[in-house]
Amino acid sequence: MEKNIALIYGDCASPEIVTQAVRVLDKIAEKHGHTFTYTRAYMGGEAIDKFGDPLPQAELDKCRAADSVLLGAIGGPKWEGLPGDQRPEKGLLRLRAGMGLYSNNRPARIWPQLADASPLKKQIVDRGIDFIVVRELIGGVYFGEHKTFHQDGELKAVDTMPYTEHEIERIGRIGFETAMKRRKKLTCVDKANVLDTSRLWRRVLEQLAGEYPEVEFSEMFVDNAAMQICKDPSQFDVIVTENMFGDILSDEASEITGSIGMVPSSSLGATSCGLYEPIHGSAPDIAGQDKVNPIACILSAAMMLRYSFGMAAEADEIEAAVSAVLDEGLRTADIMQEGCRLIGCTAMGDAILAKL
Ligand code: IPM
Ligand code: MG
Repeated sequence: MEKNIALIYGDCASPEIVTQAVRVLDKIAEKHGHTFTYTRAYMGGEAIDKFGDPLPQAELDKCRAADSVLLGAIGGPKWEGLPGDQRPEKGLLRLRAGMGLYSNNRPARIWPQLADASPLKKQIVDRGIDFIVVRELIGGVYFGEHKTFHQDGELKAVDTMPYTEHEIERIGRIGFETAMKRRKKLTCVDKANVLDTSRLWRRVLEQLAGEYPEVEFSEMFVDNAAMQICKDPSQFDVIVTENMFGDILSDEASEITGSIGMVPSSSLGATSCGLYEPIHGSAPDIAGQDKVNPIACILSAAMMLRYSFGMAAEADEIEAAVSAVLDEGLRTADIMQEGCRLIGCTAMGDAILAKL
């Protein structure tokens, strides 16, 4: 197959991980007779430096024209002082919205080799951690109206959190469909005891539940969900939730699996053109030191093969290679354990390539 991939190298330590992911993609292409071509696109801090805009229209157009987009991570201290609508993060939000990527899939599963790295007690981990956060990605408070203004002699800021029925229904469907392919349990996480948007979420999701009688559907308040994720994560299969709750819970979910440096994500909309990115940040503290863990980015590339290109066998091979390298005891600093061998980003890429 021939596929064109838009590459966003990202900021700080991010280019280091994207470089390794591209090596892996090239190896897969060579092995399976595919042709992957790459179009470089700029978004985030790099785009601010180059164009004075975190996502110029031309860069968005390149991404939309590609078969899918692979991204590292964006942002860093250099751009922290900028006003909200000029920050690197704004580029990412505009990219997600501009590509219509309403469904963000963030898996939380324990790698048996890293079980000791989980901050949870062994008896909790042993019950199993394998769930997915399906996060609504282009609605809610991230995309509502934001303003800061003077009122009664002080500053006042307002962020609004809008959701329409159709926005909830399309992500709700993804939640049910995802559950159908797994253990058939779906939990709607919300704050329906306080928020109107959450009450609308429940209404729409409860209606949808009628179409999926095989799915065991439940509802949980987000504060309780945050607690349950660290108390007994084995109870979850698929969580469907709005944008900001999903942002917060997916970080918690990744942490209990041992390292945020291991968690990939996919973002999809109505077409197969998706955005694939690790859920971690750009790790400015270790940028340029060849220390960053490339695995989440490499696994994001695997997700791209699986979900956008229909290359399940190729994705399986990448995941198996990562697992084999972990079996050998090779670790980057973030997942380092006693008795293992500490290696850098490039060496981790080398090791994974060697298994392919
Ligand atoms: C994430 C990140 C982003 C988000 C930031 C960088 C805007 O935290 O992908 O989880 O909040 O969505
Ligand atoms: Mg986040």
